[in-house]
Amino acid sequence: MDRIRIRGGRPLTGEIAISGAKNAALPLMAACLLTDGTLRLSNLPHLVDIATLANLLVQLGVEIRMNGAAEGGHAGRVLEMTARRVTDTRAPYELVRKMRASVLVLGPLLARAGRAEVSLPGGCAIGTRPIDVHLKGLEALGAEIELRDGYVHARAPRGLRGAEIVFPAVSVGATENLLMAATLAAGEPRLVNAAREPEVTDLAQCLIAMGARIEGVGGDTLVVEGVGRLGGTEHRIIPDRIETGTYAMAAAITGGALDLLGARAEHLGAVIEVLRQAGVAITESDRGLHVERADGRLRGVDVMTEPFPGFPTDLQAQMMALMATAEGASMITETIFENRFMHVPELARMGADINVHGASAMVRGRPGLTGAEVMATDLRASVSLVLAALAAEGETLLNRVYHLDRGYERVEDKLAACGAEIERIK
Ligand code: EPZ
Repeated sequence: MDRIRIRGGRPLTGEIAISGAKNAALPLMAACLLTDGTLRLSNLPHLVDIATLANLLVQLGVEIRMNGAAEGGHAGRVLEMTARRVTDTRAPYELVRKMRASVLVLGPLLARAGRAEVSLPGGCAIGTRPIDVHLKGLEALGAEIELRDGYVHARAPRGLRGAEIVFPAVSVGATENLLMAATLAAGEPRLVNAAREPEVTDLAQCLIAMGARIEGVGGDTLVVEGVGRLGGTEHRIIPDRIETGTYAMAAAITGGALDLLGARAEHLGAVIEVLRQAGVAITESDRGLHVERADGRLRGVDVMTEPFPGFPTDLQAQMMALMATAEGASMITETIFENRFMHVPELARMGADINVHGASAMVRGRPGLTGAEVMATDLRASVSLVLAALAAEGETLLNRVYHLDRGYERVEDKLAACGAEIERIK
């Protein structure tokens, strides 16, 4: 199993090209099931999760062509997907267990093929993560749903039909699943209390380009007018806002200065203000974002994770690493997932002073983290350890790098090009 070795203490300077967003790419890929036309996605990140979903789509009958060179260099890949016929409607446990986002095929399969058998994802390192909201929404659209043998068996023999779905809590995945299903439903489905994450907006814009009728894009109520058929289109995936935030914090924690090429400020929501209060200056240019400390010092700030445009849970672990090195204390509260502090004991092994009380962590910043051998149980926790290691004195060995490979494209190349002493050990 690969490991990453980092020698900390070097300020990062230079440019990092931000990749296409993993969490936008996954629902966009699932959307290919809604049409017999060809969906062409560009700016696709080269990640393990993308390959996992591509595998599943092939099993469902999708023809896939991947072109790595079309945009050249580091500019992302191009993926062409054609689901002329849906030949299978089953998402098996082996794949869903590996990647929960596989449940995003449920809505499209039901809408296009009138049936789907999707494994229940089971537990997850960061929380229980049920899919009850997805299922209740599909039932409201007329689907018959039965849970049997660890699988969701969903049927819509007479097709889906419009209804008002009021989400009891904001769910990115449920909004995406329901939005895709709704595009082919009869009547006018309404999604109320929908997620407003930029990835949802990116999906809605692609669906509109495929012929869907959706109003309210970017807001918390999406009104869909179902159509009989969607067609193919070309769509460029938005830049990854979580990768952007992660590298912004890498600049800040090392006291360096980075240009994040292609990054978009409007996708960062509360992150910009939180980082500004912490002493990090982010300025926009036509090439992306420039990030460095405003006056050399980092200050503790309180942060609470919230749905977009609030501070994202996917940057909570990285923010905690940053706060561990700041002057003063910081209270970090996680409201989205119930078990997303798995990085705390690992950061503590590097010298961080963090106490967890329920959903909040009190971080008392101090100078001088030290390198250690560490491991993490999920993607964002892993990258928070990379950030801490970049700032720490001495050497850090990060185990279980496969978590990082699920969501960060060529992380060691991007950091090394900016002066980090980092290498992958095969
Ligand atoms: C998406 O997960 C992201 N994944 C996650 O990113 C991200 O952390 C999360 O949204 C929140 O922003 C993808 O986009 C592929 P949710 P998702 O449904 O859609 C509860 C990463 O690191 N809930 O918005 O699964 C749920 O348990 C990953 O890249 C229900 O109770 O998240 C959670 O507490 C990790 N019932 C909250 O809602 C449901 O049916 C929000 O989850 C659905 C969700």
